[in-house]
Amino acid sequence: MENYKARQFDLSNLKGISDETLEMHFKLYEGYVKETNNLSTRIGEFIQDAKVDQEEMPAYSELTRRLGFEYNGMVLHEYYFDNLQKGGGTGDPAKTSQFVKAAESAFGSYDIWKADFVGIGKMRGVGWAICYENPANGRLSNHWITLHETGNVAGFTPILVMDVWEHAYLLDYKPAERPKYIEAFFSNIDWNTVNKRLKVETGLSNKATV
Ligand SMILES: [Fe+2]
Repeated sequence: MENYKARQFDLSNLKGISDETLEMHFKLYEGYVKETNNLSTRIGEFIQDAKVDQEEMPAYSELTRRLGFEYNGMVLHEYYFDNLQKGGGTGDPAKTSQFVKAAESAFGSYDIWKADFVGIGKMRGVGWAICYENPANGRLSNHWITLHETGNVAGFTPILVMDVWEHAYLLDYKPAERPKYIEAFFSNIDWNTVNKRLKVETGLSNKATV
């Protein structure tokens, strides 16, 4: 099985999120890539003989449970870094953009979508705020993800991914200042990338909903 390679991100000079934070965050991300590879290899060794013996089951189970944590930790960080823009973004998206149309279709307005997304970002606990698109009908919905793996919706496409673990902002803000970090996050969003992630044409309110 081929190992994943940690990606390099051309990201610096963000507004309100320091390069020191980014450097530390890239290193953390590399740790998830390494552990995903490590766990995949070790699980692979258990199943080399095409069976899992009873005495192997506890260790095999633990490694497999941890794989969900590490794998999602790797993938979500890639989405997160990709939806930030080097040098900072331009704030809210263009009113005519596909994302705004999709947000209006699902939430009534961009502002209501944003209030929901920001509200989720302020929830207590460590995890992620993620806006997903349902590929069946293009409908956007916002979700709270605990840790990295609990709350992701199977098959949905991550459109906007915001890390709200404290490591994402602790060098720049106090733990209680998460709202300031969220504001900084919004000023750095690469809306072009976000728009490109949308797969389904918008204006879909008449289509079947799931
Ligand atoms: Fe993170």
